[in-house]
Order: sequence, then structure tokens, then C-alpha cells
Amino acid sequence: MTARSDRRDVPVREGRQRKPIHLGAHFPGVNNTTVWQDRAAGSQIDFASFEYLARVAEDARFDFFFLAEGLRLREHLGRIHDLDVVGRPDTFTVLAALAAVTDRLGLAGTINTTFNEPFEVARQFATLDHLSCGRAAWNMVTSSDAFTGENFRRGGFLAHADRYRRAAEFVTVAGRFWDAWDPGPDGTGVPTRVVHRGEQFTVDGYPELPRSPQGHPVLLQAGDSADGREFAATHADAVFTRHGTLDAGREFYADVKRRVAAHGRNPEHVKVFPAAAFVIGDTEADAQERARHIRRRQVGPQTAINFLEQVWGRDLSGYDPDGPVPAEDPTFDAVTQGRARQGDPREIAARYRARAEADGLTIRELVIEMTARQQFVGTPETVADEIDRYVQADACDGFILVPHLTPTGLDDFASRVVPILQERGAFRSEYTGRTLRDHLGLPQVASTHAARRTG
Ligand SMILES: Cc1cc2nc3c(=O)[nH]c(=O)nc-3n(C[C@H](O)[C@H](O)[C@H](O)COP(=O)(O)O)c2cc1C
Repeated sequence: MTARSDRRDVPVREGRQRKPIHLGAHFPGVNNTTVWQDRAAGSQIDFASFEYLARVAEDARFDFFFLAEGLRLREHLGRIHDLDVVGRPDTFTVLAALAAVTDRLGLAGTINTTFNEPFEVARQFATLDHLSCGRAAWNMVTSSDAFTGENFRRGGFLAHADRYRRAAEFVTVAGRFWDAWDPGPDGTGVPTRVVHRGEQFTVDGYPELPRSPQGHPVLLQAGDSADGREFAATHADAVFTRHGTLDAGREFYADVKRRVAAHGRNPEHVKVFPAAAFVIGDTEADAQERARHIRRRQVGPQTAINFLEQVWGRDLSGYDPDGPVPAEDPTFDAVTQGRARQGDPREIAARYRARAEADGLTIRELVIEMTARQQFVGTPETVADEIDRYVQADACDGFILVPHLTPTGLDDFASRVVPILQERGAFRSEYTGRTLRDHLGLPQVASTHAARRTG
């Protein structure tokens, strides 16, 4: 699916101030969006790759650098899942190293609320916020699968709904540690005690660090259910979403902002960031051709079979990726560990078959279609136009861009699209603030102690 497929006029409210565009740079690694066989592809582990992408993003004045996280390799039919690429270094170590080689770029890390402890995560983010002078962001995820838990002492651990209850209590307790510092009238400061007895956590202790530059790191949320959206509306400063097309984006955006307002918060203080890929060419036709080529490399013959095996739950290695979709029914028992099928496998398979029959698609072509994500494809001008249009039409506040190459995948966007957005005044040409909260136009979190003293 490309941005162009839903091109049509969307009314942008008259007389309203232009919304600034915000941009995050997703580090491409450990998935099959990244094209690994490209001659320009580099390591997803070497620090040089992280540093390269972060420097490109900072030179282009991006809001933040973004790391996703997975805490266990997926398995399928007793094998490590071939769609995974091994090699995901620890988030805090990478972001701390990046803090030393960047100056203004926000540093966002995905850290799980299901398997960690609030004291520890609060301390890690406070440390990152101190080391980076106020650039830390936490993407709070719950993870949906049971098998990740088997890497930890608790086994599977927690049903879906309980994960959000734990997440809410987790970030509440973390927030109490960030706030538990009384600067005192003369600014010397003392830690204050945190006592919490709740359903998920019993904690009694002190923070080990003074309040960090941002007070609280910027809090992102990624998760789409009603529970997930409520969690975001209550606790997050931004939401990371897959609703990237114009219509789905506008619906999601309105829903999130409505929920935020219902919690008595200012809707402008929760930013919405869909993930988006992009392909830039010298002409529209060139860009479309490049996009087709990239999609075929992302979904090679083996990847197509592996993906379909996840849907069918059975061994399909005997099938020709350039042949028709299997006539046999899927099984119910061999679910891929790490990405549970959503709903009845027979219905999902029927949907896949119907699509293949309607468009005369082979297995590989079908997987290319069914796994398509939001992407902007075009010349630098049309990509800049579309991104600006989506933001002004309230489909989002910006995008987390997902390049398809490590580490050079952002180069074209930074050198060709960003200058157009800057010329139009749609995107900053210089950082005007120091912290990530400044970049995103988010308020500082007031210290509860300062508030108590003045209030
Ligand atoms: C856009 C997006 C990105 C996500 N990224 C991660 C991630 O990097 N690591 C992770 O463990 N879970 C990730 N998740 C999973 C969510 O944290 C959540 O556990 C999952 O979506 C199930 O919750 P839901 O039913 O509310 O969607 C992501 C979810 C979304 C929608």
C-alpha cells in the first residue's frame, strides 16, 4: 500500500496554525523489513551502524532515534524462525553510547513493562536522561506473547488485560521514583521515600539519583487494543502506531485525542506517530519501480514460505513460492511462538486464498501484498507533500520512519526530503530547545515537591 493509493482531498481546517512535523528514526535491524542482502547493508550490531544512523538523523534535525525491542527469538515448528535475524544489543547500552556522540537528538528505547521492575527501569531512564542532558524516551510495551516470559523467572506470565494493569502500576511507581527528590529551598536536594503497596508491586525505598533534566523521560506507548489506548491516554506523551494510512490514521488520531481529553489531559500533549517506510526516486515511475524491487527483496522466496507457514501453522516447505496458495487447511495447534495468529486460522487462510484468487497471486506475490505497510513512494517533492498533508489533515503528528537498509537507509530522506520540508517551514531547520520534551512541544513534568512548596 502506498501513500498515493489514498490520495484525495482532505479538508484541513482553515485559519488553524500549521502543525510542525515531528520525525523519529527507527533503527533498521532484526526483521525482514531490512534488506540484508543489499551490497550496502552493514552490521546491525557494530556501534558504527548505530552512530551512523543517529548522526544522519541529528544532522537532519530529527526529534529522536528509536530502538524497538524483542526479548526472545521467535520459534516456529521447532526451529528458530528464519524471519528473525539474530543480533539485538541491549537498549540502554546502545542509547548511552549514542548519548556521547550526539548532542540534541532524542534517544528512545523500547522497554517491557511485563518482565522488568519499576525501580530498575526508573533508575535506568533517569541515568540516560542525566547522561544525555534530557533526551531520554521510553517506549512502554507490554508484549503480547507468552513465550517471551519463559526467558524470565516467571514462565509465561500474565494474560493480556493483566499486562496493561501491570503496565499502569509500573509507570506509576516509576514516576514516583522520578519524583522522589526534594530539591530543598537551597537546591542541595534530598531523596524522599517511595512507599507503594499495590496489586502488582510492593516497593519501599529511595531513588538513587536526583531528578533528571526532563523530570520524567518522554513516555511513548505502542499497543492498539482499547486497554492499550486507555493506558496511552492516561500515561503517555506519544503513541507509536501501525495506523499509517490517511483514513485509518485520522480515525486512530481522533480516537486517541478523544481518550486523552476524557482523562482531563490536553490532547496536544499526546503526539501520534505511525510507522512509515519510504522509497525515493528521481521520478514517480523510478520510485515505484524501486519500491517493487525492495518489496521483492524483503519478501524473498524462503521468507514467503516462512510467512505463510505462520498463517497455516504447518510445514509448507514442499510448496513453490512462485506457485499457487496451498489448498490444504491450516492447523490449530502449531502456532508460531512469538506471533500468535489473531483469530480463527481457517478464516485467516480463507481471506488469504480469496485475495490470491481475486488478483491471481502466487504465494510470494500474496505475502508481498498482505504484509505491505504504510509507505511513501515518490520523488522528494511528492514524499514531502504527502508527509506534510497527513500531519495537517490530523492523521498524525509526524512519523517514525523505518528505513530498509542498515545503516544508510535514512540518507536519501535526510538529504532530499528534509530540505524541502525545511524550506516550507514545515520542519525545523535548527533545534530550538535542548531536551526531547522541548523538541516535541511537551510540557516539563513539574516536580511534586516544587509544586507542594509553591502551592
Ligand atoms: C507499532 C507497535 C510497535 C510495537 N513494538 C514493540 C516492540 O518493539 N517490542 C515489543 O515487545 N512489543 C512491541 N509492540 C507490542 C505491544 O507492546 C503490545 O504488547 C501488543 O501490541 C499487544 O497489545 P495490544 O493488544 O494493545 O495491541 C508494538 C506494538 C505496536 C502496535
